[in-house]
Amino acid sequence: MVLGIETSCDETGIALLEDGERILSAGVASQESIHAPYAGVVPELASRQHLRLLGQMLQTCVREAGVSLPQIELVAVTRGPGLAGCLLSGVSFAKGLAYGLGVSVLGVNHIEAHIYSCCLAGDVEFPALALVVSGGHTLLVLVRGWGCYELLGQTRDDAVGEAYDKVASMIGLPFPGGPAVEARAMRCGSGPGAGRTASGGVSFPRPLSTSGDLNFSFSGLKTAVLYWLKKHAGKPLNEDEVDGVAHGFQEAVIEVLLKKTLRAAQRADARCMLLAGGVARNESLRRRLQEGARGIGIALHCAPKEYCTDNGVMVAALGYRKYTGGVRDDWSLDIAPGLKLVKSEA
Ligand code: KG4
Ligand code: ZN
Repeated sequence: MVLGIETSCDETGIALLEDGERILSAGVASQESIHAPYAGVVPELASRQHLRLLGQMLQTCVREAGVSLPQIELVAVTRGPGLAGCLLSGVSFAKGLAYGLGVSVLGVNHIEAHIYSCCLAGDVEFPALALVVSGGHTLLVLVRGWGCYELLGQTRDDAVGEAYDKVASMIGLPFPGGPAVEARAMRCGSGPGAGRTASGGVSFPRPLSTSGDLNFSFSGLKTAVLYWLKKHAGKPLNEDEVDGVAHGFQEAVIEVLLKKTLRAAQRADARCMLLAGGVARNESLRRRLQEGARGIGIALHCAPKEYCTDNGVMVAALGYRKYTGGVRDDWSLDIAPGLKLVKSEA
């Protein structure tokens, strides 16, 4: 019986798993309304909110699972990467709880947990090529086996989710921007509810798409949106124009992600592709990657939508695998805000 605790950014996630896969109870408290006025996450506000919520969320989680606290056998917690204060809230809580219960505490890597959440969608064959797209990360990772990773490419500036959030704020859409931009893009493009905008959207550049390497850059795209908006200075965008910008931005993002992910999978001779992180909730991205994977004859496993954004289930699931694989931490477990994925684990 493993308890998973996730507090690396602005979601407080707690989950109880049995045998590493049976989800007994899971809860996520989003802080969207707290950070919305700032159009981005305010670290101190986020840490304090985790501190406020963890105790009551644990009580609810245990009650809903129909178990009692002493039945918990392991406490797994995200130790990095993430915001230092947020990680401290979660790791301190986890250590205190584990100490009180007389069980082990195990720190896990947040990115590894995102990638591992793809297991919830099907059996992963190695080597697997993972695209991790979230508010803080945009990574292409070769997964040779669980615990053995090679970073193939990453963003040089903004993460994809961050670019979604910033562009949303520029065109007057609410935070977090991803779901809002996706909804507006759908009204314009070829997705469900299409055809609302006759123009078919605005065309933006595809940054680094011809660079030959596997890195990304999204700040130039953000600037291109800004320049387009400046050309319309003094005149608020009408609904069709908002749809058009959202669609044009999303098309540019997806095209670059698709091109580089397929290139990486082919270069590495991957046996499947994985898609994880908050932006993996995006239906157009899932569909286009699915088509791309089919085109090169391999499977794509997307993290289930409800476990794409930060959650405790992925932490508990990975904690179980690591613990049963012999990985241990002691009471000196510390946070690691800049934690990297490791090439191989002892
Ligand atoms: O993984 P996550 O919860 O947090 C980090 O670890 O960063 O990802 C949050 C990010 C936000 O930037 C949000 O705008 C984005 O995921 N996001 C989306 C969608 N849903 C959430 N981006 C694009 N389309 C979506 N449907
Ligand atoms: Zn995350």
